[in-house]
Amino acid sequence: MGSQTTTKARVQGQLPGPRSRELFDRWAKVEAQCTGYEARVCWDRAQGVVVIDVDGNSFLDWTSGVLVTNVGHCHPHLVAAVQAACAKLMNNYECLNEPRVNAAEKLAAILPQHLDKCFFLSTGSEATEACIRIMKRKTGKFEILSFHGGFHGRTYAALTAGGLAGPKKGYGPTLPGAIRVPFPYCYRCPFHAEPETCDLLCLDYIEDAVRANSTGSLAGVMVEAYLGAAGFIFAPPGWFPRLEQWIRSRGLLFALDEVQSSFGRTGKLFAMEWENLTPDLVALGKGIGSGIPASAVAARREVIGALGQGEMSSTNGGNPVACAAVVAVIEIMEREKLHDNALRIGELMKSRLLQIKEHCPYVGDVRGAGLVMGVELVKDKKTKEPAPDLTRQLIDVAAQNGLLIGSVGVFGNVIRVAPPLVINEAEAHESLDIFEKSLASL
Ligand SMILES: Cc1ncc(COP(=O)(O)O)c(C=O)c1O
Repeated sequence: MGSQTTTKARVQGQLPGPRSRELFDRWAKVEAQCTGYEARVCWDRAQGVVVIDVDGNSFLDWTSGVLVTNVGHCHPHLVAAVQAACAKLMNNYECLNEPRVNAAEKLAAILPQHLDKCFFLSTGSEATEACIRIMKRKTGKFEILSFHGGFHGRTYAALTAGGLAGPKKGYGPTLPGAIRVPFPYCYRCPFHAEPETCDLLCLDYIEDAVRANSTGSLAGVMVEAYLGAAGFIFAPPGWFPRLEQWIRSRGLLFALDEVQSSFGRTGKLFAMEWENLTPDLVALGKGIGSGIPASAVAARREVIGALGQGEMSSTNGGNPVACAAVVAVIEIMEREKLHDNALRIGELMKSRLLQIKEHCPYVGDVRGAGLVMGVELVKDKKTKEPAPDLTRQLIDVAAQNGLLIGSVGVFGNVIRVAPPLVINEAEAHESLDIFEKSLASL
């Protein structure tokens, strides 16, 4: 067990508390109930890694919203920058504002050099959608290769590139031109191979799939740096560089979805840095605004330059408040070296999670990098039968014990371990103690 001296999580009585219950009841009457499964906690305020609900209960947070508040909830520098920006100018659409120039310069300064132009949007889906549009516009072709388990958002081109059935069910056909191939989900390898000996045979399959399915109009490849919604699935070392080689050998464009994996989450500012990938386009979102809705597509200038005047815009994209937030987030990341903290605390947390896996009958797999880890729950370690019911139960029990967690996964059985990157050792140990105790009580 950990060695914390003071505890930050404190829940009194059964959740939801009286004020939360009242708000949940009022909410159910007036807003569509179509979001995913979460603990019944109505958030009131948050600071760093600690969330307080409307009943005054405090929780440690392993969600960061949904991998959004990388710099910590309500970081004072971000709050001050946003407040100052709000007081000055909130929206001016496509006329220029100074924060927009500053944000673009700041972004160019931290991105790999070849990604020298960007365009600001508001959501991750808009950024991935833009990547797909640019690939088509640049090449004049319409087919996109993407991966089983991928999630790029709910707008139509993004949804089409996605490889999860759930978000598509009930909506009829997606767009033509999609070629989808397996991602290396090594815990459940679709080829029943072992990562130590497979020589990445799933990559060979890609060439087969293209030969069989492409009409010769393949524009490019869209892929997440790790599969987020499918269960925090990381490709084995060497897979991405070989994928990139294949992309280049075919003369295709390469779009990397870093909506979730960027801004320090994996222990580098951008996940592409781990294996020196050089995508032509990168989609950014979530952590870029760390709570303020902002996103961007960053690209080689000759690729994004395919768009002429009037070919891309977004009502709130590049607005001065969001851009002031982007500048503040980058300043915080640089000043506090949050990617280094993600590496250090991530290692500590992963080693304890691996210990938990040894003795807990339900933990089938622990994987991840930096402060994004997936804990895959199964009914039986041998058969690997997914345990989605147990996962939902754990979400509730952990909340009752003072820890907020969420789930992802093709089978809805993967716990998201993704706290804000400001988490310290004591908070990490306290949250792990709660997690362990909650698991043990199932
Ligand atoms: C990898 C990835 N891409 C795109 C998106 C879509 O982002 P948004 O919900 O901001 O549209 C998400 C959202 O979870 C994501 O995880």
